[in-house]
Amino acid sequence: MTPISLRSALQSLPENALEAIVNRQFATKLLEALGFQAEEIYPEYPIRRMAVDIAARKNVGDDIFINTKKNPYLLVELKGRDVNLTEGSQPYKNTVQQLKRYLLAPECHSAAWGIITNSCHIQLFRKHGKVVFPATPCHPINKDNIEDITATIREKIESPSRALTIALYNNKGGVGKTTTTVNLAGILTLLGKKILVIDFDPNQQDLTSALGLPLSEDALFTALINRDTELKTAIRPYKFLFRSKKLETRFDVIPSDKRLVSEAENELKIHGYKPGNGLLHRKLKSLRNEYDYILIDAPPNWRLFSKLAVYAADVVLLPTKHNNLFSLENAVTAIKDFIPEIQQEKSDGSPIALPIFFNGERMTEPQKAAVEKVMESMIQAAKRNDGFDLAPYFFPKRRRAGEDTHVLCVPGHASISSSAFFRVPAVFRDKSALEYYKNLVKEYFL
Ligand SMILES: Nc1ncnc2c1ncn2[C@@H]1O[C@H](COP(=O)(O)OP(=O)(O)OP(=O)(O)O)[C@@H](O)[C@H]1O
Ligand SMILES: [Mg+2]
Repeated sequence: MTPISLRSALQSLPENALEAIVNRQFATKLLEALGFQAEEIYPEYPIRRMAVDIAARKNVGDDIFINTKKNPYLLVELKGRDVNLTEGSQPYKNTVQQLKRYLLAPECHSAAWGIITNSCHIQLFRKHGKVVFPATPCHPINKDNIEDITATIREKIESPSRALTIALYNNKGGVGKTTTTVNLAGILTLLGKKILVIDFDPNQQDLTSALGLPLSEDALFTALINRDTELKTAIRPYKFLFRSKKLETRFDVIPSDKRLVSEAENELKIHGYKPGNGLLHRKLKSLRNEYDYILIDAPPNWRLFSKLAVYAADVVLLPTKHNNLFSLENAVTAIKDFIPEIQQEKSDGSPIALPIFFNGERMTEPQKAAVEKVMESMIQAAKRNDGFDLAPYFFPKRRRAGEDTHVLCVPGHASISSSAFFRVPAVFRDKSALEYYKNLVKEYFL
């Protein structure tokens, strides 16, 4: 008997197949097509008094997954065809939340990927530390595309890249993009992670300056416009010697360069170069396995460099200020319009916005009440006017309307504002700064 292909398994599914049927007739074929053998697939994998529909992991020598049940690599949350998994629908959102909970459960620490499918739609998610983000769009599937889509998913899960790429962006100036980038690089380095930081704001070059690094002549520019020049050639080390003079800390930086200043956008055009917004993204490909985090400091506008930075990112971190309405309004525009615009163009499901945080002065209770009121009305307006749900980006811990208004805050501190004078990230010099940015890392990434 010839084995049934995934294509014909899908084709023979009843139109209204419930979850049990999807599981029996489609899921096993799907897992097989993704490269997993029977002993590598564990149905009803137990997590916290619940069970994820399927967990899978390649066997390693004698470590047979269905025997040891340890270290799942891929989780699959299945639904029946009666559950609408069209992107943006409520059941879709609920299913993504469910998958996230499973991926972030302690029993699934090792899980790097998650899939949701009801056999009409399928979407792959990637987990990096605490961050779960789409690795494909939510594809409608049919007999004609299922094999190609499965092949793409398989390729992704078989060659995961090491880095999470984060763009720091807000169209509003002076909200702390550069300061956050520098200190995130510092704290993540102190936590043992390998970091690359890119100064992608050539007009200001603040990041390069804050670290006391010289501008390159034209290393970044050349790497961007020459197909054959690797971005690696633009990397410089930032080294910091702790007071003991014994412990050297370092992370890697791509400083801005003299050729990329002010006229760079025009110059890229003059060179007859139509890079598209994917230019930096493609250039970073060879570096994504060398680092744990790649941080890109973007300029405060929505032009070439910000677009390249956001396109290159898996996730976008948006600093805002609780006492600056425009910083919030600009964040909403980025979340609602700019990032989806890039998502459309990039068509791999990324980048997504992380929840906003407040950067700067400490909040008094009346200020807190005032900003929460404004944020509530922005949530209502986005829902009313665009059918867009801002709540997860403003109040990520909220489960029901009107509840939890937690927003992470990096308080203002003299050591943070003065650190650029010393050309040293504040986290290397000051305990309070270190604690603030450690909180940020814990909340978002680790
Ligand atoms: N948490 C903080 N505590 C104290 N000062 C801060 C803090 N965050 C940022 N600053 C200060 O606020 C100013 C603006 O910060 P920064 O340059 O990082 O903003 P930016 O968003 O990168 O600005 P631009 O849009 O111009 O690129 C700087 O002087 C910086 O030192
Ligand atoms: Mg800046």
